[in-house]
Amino acid sequence: MPNVVVVGTQWGDEGKGKIIDLLTPSVDVVVRYQGGANAGHTVVIGEQRTILHLVPSGILHEKCLCIIGNGVVLDPKVLIDEIDGLHQQGYLKDPTRLAVSQNAHLVLPHHRMIDQLMEEAKSGGTRIGTTGRGIGPAYSDKAARTGIRAGDLLKPELFRRRLEELLPLKNRWIEMLGGQPPDMGSLLAESEEWSARLSKHIQDVEGLLHQSIREGKNVLFEGAQGTALDIDHGTYPFVTSSNTIAGEACCGTGVGPKVIDEVLGVVKAYTTRVGHGPFPTELKDEVGNHLQERGKEFGATTGRRRRCGWFDAVLARRAARLNSLTMLAMTKLDVLSELDPLKICVSYEIDGKRFDTFPSSLEEFDRLVPIYEEMPGWSEDIAKIRRFNDLPKATRNYVRRIEEVVDVKVSILSVGYERNAYIVLKSPF
Ligand code: GDP
Ligand code: IMO
Ligand code: MG
Repeated sequence: MPNVVVVGTQWGDEGKGKIIDLLTPSVDVVVRYQGGANAGHTVVIGEQRTILHLVPSGILHEKCLCIIGNGVVLDPKVLIDEIDGLHQQGYLKDPTRLAVSQNAHLVLPHHRMIDQLMEEAKSGGTRIGTTGRGIGPAYSDKAARTGIRAGDLLKPELFRRRLEELLPLKNRWIEMLGGQPPDMGSLLAESEEWSARLSKHIQDVEGLLHQSIREGKNVLFEGAQGTALDIDHGTYPFVTSSNTIAGEACCGTGVGPKVIDEVLGVVKAYTTRVGHGPFPTELKDEVGNHLQERGKEFGATTGRRRRCGWFDAVLARRAARLNSLTMLAMTKLDVLSELDPLKICVSYEIDGKRFDTFPSSLEEFDRLVPIYEEMPGWSEDIAKIRRFNDLPKATRNYVRRIEEVVDVKVSILSVGYERNAYIVLKSPF
């Protein structure tokens, strides 16, 4: 039975949530492997829009087991709010369907504070534009071996000792940055509530996952963020603090690479980015506005306007390489209607020299000129079309050209935000 990684190929928000929701009926287990509540994965069912930050995007289907892996940084308060929201909408009636790794590191109030205070303290040009969800400080603690893990919540004495050891140090830092440090007593009281609410979910998910794989079940590994936000391979330092590429599906859950059968890259039919950092094909004109408005490009976590631009095939080709993509799911094709011509960036020029690859240093981006290829656009609304051959010829040509320049076949096309607005060309399952 195939095990599939679903990974973002650009700067996040490619529509991973929607694609994972549509694949879930063919899947037994969905497991998140990295990131935290910086993610916002949207699933729209009729009038109901659900944004998932920590809970895997398979949760809106009754039978699927959803796992939060060890690679995720977990804000217990956000998780509890999310579980409550799902209950209110009538989902997650059976708590055994959500399992949380005991080894996932916790995001605590001081992490959020430090994240936000550090952003404020930086000068304009060095600000990353983080989501303010405490992601960087939590992963820093994990690497520095000063983190506290979900499993520690189940051992109140150990949790208290760890916090008593660490919080005063963090609080000194918060005070230095001009913030109001969190109080030990109220944090300990809150942690008791978190423990009471989450104890039924926190467990050894590594064992659970291996058992599912041994039984031949289909596992979908859910990526968050996107390839260009990867801490090693992205546009550093304008990146997130985890490895976002498909390889992390192994480290962030505890399986070996031979378990993975397919890697599905989710790619927007154009490009967007929230936060600061290089963006070669960004459009600051009316075409950019068209994409932003028609695509309703506002961040699902922070509500910020997303920067928009043409499709960048250099970026997508790099994603194909870094993730070993075996197929693409192309989303938001409907947003391109009424734009003519369409442009695809096929290479970059730096100081008069052509490059087909992504620059490794940040300062090269300042001198980079995108080289475009033009294609005819289409005026029709394609949101109701459900067969590839019924799409306008120009739409089909655009999809086929992207397959060529990225050198990966498209398996799924999404033509609207609604749950059923998609066309499957080849299912990964
Ligand atoms: P994710 O983080 O990759 O899951 O993506 P987000 O949920 O942050 O952002 C994608 C946005 O695009 C959401 O508002 C989706 O409802 C919406 N969306 C997904 N696919 C399509 C599509 O094919 N067409 C349109 N118009 N909207 C889409
Ligand atoms: P999903 O999973 C888009 C961006 C932030 C910022 C940078 C670092 O919904 O695709 P962080 O809070 O992680 O330290 O911020 O990364 N970022 C995202 N952009 N989609 C996301 O997640 C993102 N998660 C983080 O805007 O530029
Ligand atoms: Mg998102």
